[in-house]
Amino acid sequence: MNTLSTFFIFISLFASISHGIEVDYCVGDPSLPRGPEGYACKNPSKLTSDDFVFRNFRGEKQTGGIYKNNITLAFAEQFPAINGLGISMARLDFGVGGVIPLHSHRTSEIIVVIRGTIVAGFIDASNNAYYQKLEVGDVMIFPQAMLHFQVNVGKKPAMAIVSLNGASPAVQQTTYSLFDGNLPAELAEQITLLSQKEVTRMRKLFKTA
Ligand SMILES: *[C@@H]1O[C@H](CO)[C@@H](O)[C@H](O)[C@H]1NC(C)=O
Repeated sequence: MNTLSTFFIFISLFASISHGIEVDYCVGDPSLPRGPEGYACKNPSKLTSDDFVFRNFRGEKQTGGIYKNNITLAFAEQFPAINGLGISMARLDFGVGGVIPLHSHRTSEIIVVIRGTIVAGFIDASNNAYYQKLEVGDVMIFPQAMLHFQVNVGKKPAMAIVSLNGASPAVQQTTYSLFDGNLPAELAEQITLLSQKEVTRMRKLFKTA
């Protein structure tokens, strides 16, 4: 192999790993269709500093619903400036006894507790559950795609901030997937081995929520 072909192999390798870096940023336009790599970019000449700031984590959040929580997402849809940057955040508020039920994302998640005491954990593909009581300032990682959960075990409301290494990491919650979607009750029974009575109770719980 001569020097020139080695050079071209090197150049094409370099090109293939750096192909995505053609713009400094791509603030998404959620009104345009979204592809697998994110939203199309807003016209850069229309951007202002405001586009790069997200203010919805401010203030008190009212908790409620079956799980007594309030989830504020700063994903690409809510915060289009993170489009394509492989990063996002969410604020989790827990009422007393509040829960973020078992769920997963396409990404990893790292949590820091800001207020209160929670038990957080994940369950890996070998069914090992790793969970800990976390106090203010504690950080825990939930590895990519693993099922995980958080429970407020304190006597007061709790709050935590999470960051995820994807701009649109999605939130797939197992109980909502089974009982709040279009999965027929009979299939829910078959794939969970829950009784008809229990599946009916769960579906009612989510329908009225
Ligand atoms: C979350 O809290 C905000 C602010 O209090 C409130 O407007 C919103 O309705 C709450 N969402 C849920 C699902 O409770």
